[in-house]
Amino acid sequence: MISRLIYFSILITIIAGCSSPKNDMQGENKYYREKHRLQFHFSPATSWMNDPNGLVYHSGEYHMFYQYYPDSTVWGPMHWGHAVSKDLVHWEHLPIALFPDSLGYIFSGSAVVDSNNTSGFGKEGQAPVVAIYTYHQPDMEKQGSIVFQTQGIAYSLDNGRTWSKYDSNPVLPNPGIRDFRDPKVFWLESQQKWIMSLAVKDHISFYSSGDFKNWKFESDFGAELGAHGGVWECPDLFLLGDKWILLVSINPGGPNGGSATQYFVGNFDGSVFTPIDTKIRWLDYGRDNYAGVTWSNITDGRRIFIGWMSNWDYGNLVPTDPWRSAMTLPRTLSLEKIGNEHVVSSKPVVEVEQLRTRELKISSSSDSQITLNPNGENLYELDLSIEAKTKVEPFKIILSNEQQQQLIVAYDPDNKQFTIDRDGSGDNSFSEKFNGIQEGPFDNTTAIMKLRLIVDVGSIELFVDDGALTMTSLFFPDAPLTQAKFVQESGNIVAGSNYTLQRSWD
Ligand code: FRU
Repeated sequence: MISRLIYFSILITIIAGCSSPKNDMQGENKYYREKHRLQFHFSPATSWMNDPNGLVYHSGEYHMFYQYYPDSTVWGPMHWGHAVSKDLVHWEHLPIALFPDSLGYIFSGSAVVDSNNTSGFGKEGQAPVVAIYTYHQPDMEKQGSIVFQTQGIAYSLDNGRTWSKYDSNPVLPNPGIRDFRDPKVFWLESQQKWIMSLAVKDHISFYSSGDFKNWKFESDFGAELGAHGGVWECPDLFLLGDKWILLVSINPGGPNGGSATQYFVGNFDGSVFTPIDTKIRWLDYGRDNYAGVTWSNITDGRRIFIGWMSNWDYGNLVPTDPWRSAMTLPRTLSLEKIGNEHVVSSKPVVEVEQLRTRELKISSSSDSQITLNPNGENLYELDLSIEAKTKVEPFKIILSNEQQQQLIVAYDPDNKQFTIDRDGSGDNSFSEKFNGIQEGPFDNTTAIMKLRLIVDVGSIELFVDDGALTMTSLFFPDAPLTQAKFVQESGNIVAGSNYTLQRSWD
């Protein structure tokens, strides 16, 4: 059957005073303007980056540390790079926070504000920021040892600008397990102790401590539960609504191949995590959201998440230079009850809305397919409601450029799924593993569906029904995909807005 094109009517509203960032269109401001450089996502200016680390809010700043190898654009001896932001959208780069030492590379971990000075690192009433991370000793690994991963701590008394490593590191030696890493710590107020979640090969181990230096084993979780197609990494345990959520990244073994993040919904009594069921849940069905964790010490009640927007299947090969990798947009997590299901929804933090400049109102009644950013840049958002008489009908949104490169987001109610097809969207020559249609299950049973789609040069983030389904995907087009066609065989009425977004790296 020949598909019918729904035509959009367009009404333009200029939201902000100006529609394009100063100087950019003339090419005068070359900062962060390389080919495929994302314009409002965090990426390092140069060199290799992977997981977000040490996410902590302190003294008006969101800190983001990250796995960083300053000497190359491929993974290597890990440092903690560092950036801060006041609004989660504009980032300031700071010097490297933690360098490898004789105990090893500095792998992933977390940071907290030790308000009660339990660690004793505070001075003159000033609470220390304490970081805990994995030491990975490469020489021991080469020599065939299996105890090369341990946990170390460091602290800062100047809001993360400089760090001192604890002189009795490691604080948690290796008990004889190869994969023993990525400590994520929080203060359990009701029991006055720190809780650490640690990824241990195929399960999570919980430890507790009163002083950050001595850790007691509490329990293991998950060897028999959840997805096990690869090693477990980067856990995070936190209360969301009335349930405890345990995030666990896994590589490989994601729902669409390679790296992905699963989560468990349950209860935690300070020692043992008990899931409410045995269901496997994924935080994001796209291929490019891995190792994500949440900020500690946020005081406005939000639980904010950010992930590494790549996949170990091809992260070292993507065609960018002189840097590799970006983070996802920061997202607010919430626990929703959908039917009988507990679902962790992800939405971009509201601060992202400050990037909107021009609004085009969209409705499917008149006569044009639309150009998504009149400035010609691949920086835009589509915010749509899709409505049918009884149940949303199949549709496709095709984003394309003049070179016929296209990226297709589709919904199929029979298969109960969304798909993202990036195979024809640009350069995919760097890895065969980059190809293949990504599927995200979504059983829409109502007459209306909300869709939000955010594009930044070479990333697409799809949020369906306020983030009940999320899919994040990279692509590498030769020119912006600023033409949008909404294709369907019947029935849906489409309305909403297209926003032009501005860059955040001026
Ligand atoms: C996840 C991960 C972590 C590890 C880090 C090393 O992407 O493999 O388990 O700490 O990356 O860079």
